[in-house]
Amino acid sequence: MMTRAVIAGLGTYAPSKVLTNQDLERIVDTNDEWILTRTGIRERHIAAPDETTTDMAVRAAQLACAEAGITADQLDFIIVATNTPDTLFPSTAARLQARLTSSPVPGFDLQAGCTGLIYALAMGSTLIQNGTCRRILVVGADKLSSITDYQDRTTAVLFGDGAGALVLEAETNTEFGILASYLKADGRGGDLLSLPAGGSRLPASEDTVRDRQHFLKMNGNETFRFAVKAMPEAVEEGLRAAGLTLDAMDLLVPHQANLRIIDAAVRRFNLDPDRVVVNIERYGNTSVATIPLALEDARQDGRLKSGNIVVLVAFGAGLTWGSNVLRWGR
Ligand code: COA
Repeated sequence: MMTRAVIAGLGTYAPSKVLTNQDLERIVDTNDEWILTRTGIRERHIAAPDETTTDMAVRAAQLACAEAGITADQLDFIIVATNTPDTLFPSTAARLQARLTSSPVPGFDLQAGCTGLIYALAMGSTLIQNGTCRRILVVGADKLSSITDYQDRTTAVLFGDGAGALVLEAETNTEFGILASYLKADGRGGDLLSLPAGGSRLPASEDTVRDRQHFLKMNGNETFRFAVKAMPEAVEEGLRAAGLTLDAMDLLVPHQANLRIIDAAVRRFNLDPDRVVVNIERYGNTSVATIPLALEDARQDGRLKSGNIVVLVAFGAGLTWGSNVLRWGR
């Protein structure tokens, strides 16, 4: 009997504070027109100083569990995709577990750049398909504002904060759920997008603080070139792994890093723009939270319907890239 991971619940959270392009004009040497035409972003949500990645994850997770009709003690596992854990240890997953339930639900953090949610859904799906777990909470949460250099206009305009959570549940003999995943990494491109200091390679010191090494560094042009190749590849290979072709795809939910990267994929595949979810203008790049936030928007505007073949696709630091192909609903 074939068991699959169906999505039983989806929840998202974005902090209340909104940072507009006009606000950024007062912080760095930039302007609304540049940001909008080069990235597609108008505004992004920024967490309060004392609001952590875990705080955001809790809000998204509670909504996802409520929709799934479960309490957190019914979870078998928690996977948190994040690049900005509250602390290197204990894990965000352990912190989240303690906030959600007194039941000792195991879990771990998964770090794969902005592809983290795709990796996490693939791992969650595997744990369900092989019978290890029946219910898994998969969370993507990042507080990128905590590692963004607001003196560097080339990165300050791009990022925002947010969280998304999905409850995966085992279902047997179903046409719904995660059908296939495609995951890749190429560490040779690691320096294109990295957080140089704070790990064992370059522990915190007065020098690392002075040199602003605790902020994200990115080679934007090279990352762009990588992304416009990686995204179409992951869409095609994910569909191939599911035994499907592009025609079968009802909805593409891409990582929201730059509107021009998404547009390149739309042109490459000659897609009806209505089949591609774009909400970057309101959130910016929230890393592992972009895809849940986009799924939620597509559900609210009526484009995400039960039975749809949906392709989730992302790329990010590592370098990493990948996709999940699923049939929405249960
Ligand atoms: N406001 C105004 N001008 C800016 C600016 C800003 N915020 N940031 C850069 N510029 C300037 C540059 O200094 C440069 O000026 P110059 O021509 O006088 O040297 C000019 O704009 C063009 O810069 P460039 O870096 O070539 O722009 P771009 O079109 O490549 O856009 C990014 C830059 C970062 C938006 C784009 O490269 C990108 O999105 N890359 C991918 C990033 C990504 O996906 N990251 C996440 C991966 S998960």
